Amino acid sequence: MDGLYHPALTAYLEGLVERPHPLLAAMEQRAAETNFPIVGPVVGQLFYWLTRLTGARRVFELGSGYGYSTAWFALAVRDNGGGVVHHTVWDADLSRQAQEYLAQMGLSDLMTYHVGEAVETLQRVGGEYDLIFCDIDKAGYPASLPVVKRHLRVGGLALYDNMLWSGRVWDTQDTSEATEAIRTLTQQMTHDPDLQTVLFPMRDGVLAGIKVRPSGTIP
Ligand SMILES: C[S@@+](CC[C@H](N)C(=O)[O-])C[C@H]1O[C@@H](n2cnc3c(N)ncnc32)[C@H](O)[C@@H]1O
Repeated sequence: MDGLYHPALTAYLEGLVERPHPLLAAMEQRAAETNFPIVGPVVGQLFYWLTRLTGARRVFELGSGYGYSTAWFALAVRDNGGGVVHHTVWDADLSRQAQEYLAQMGLSDLMTYHVGEAVETLQRVGGEYDLIFCDIDKAGYPASLPVVKRHLRVGGLALYDNMLWSGRVWDTQDTSEATEAIRTLTQQMTHDPDLQTVLFPMRDGVLAGIKVRPSGTIP
């Protein structure tokens, strides 16, 4: 992310964020110390706000880490009146750490945890969701979209992180698998008649698509 934004802009935006729970700051501190790739407070607050805006109560997260982005979704679902938030990661230790953080926040009642490959888990668990957030390894993004769409209600929101990929998406010299996968997903989502998609240029870029009816309307 370094270099995409003026450091003063990043500091200004992060300074505006009101965290709905103090543990979020400790989770950010941990990410900074261990270089773990969390979405950070500006995108976390965007996720909280989008979840509140859409009234989402059923959220599925693919590629969840130790639960930082999950916590923003779960706090919003709690404030929407309650529901369910699925945390999915293939590392059992990260899953356990997320369970501890979310328990400390008093959010365990909302949570369902899965250890395994995230897209396969969504297919296996099934169900229909108001919001699905994908933050898995980037090479897996294009293949995840049909599964995400299948399990999203009409009017629901599909979110993908790292869609600017630190500027590598517009670097014509970069043809790595991850960069090409992000470019492919961007084309898929922006040209899909089932989705109305916008790219939020916050932190590393969030692509957000609303699932619409064949007529283009949203309930
Ligand atoms: C970028 S981190 C998630 C950060 C998290 N969204 C946050 O902001 O707090 C992605 C995590 O998902 C895991 N992961 C990546 N691809 C995955 C997949 N296909 N299935 C399950 N877990 C995956 C990674 O090992 C890592 O722990």
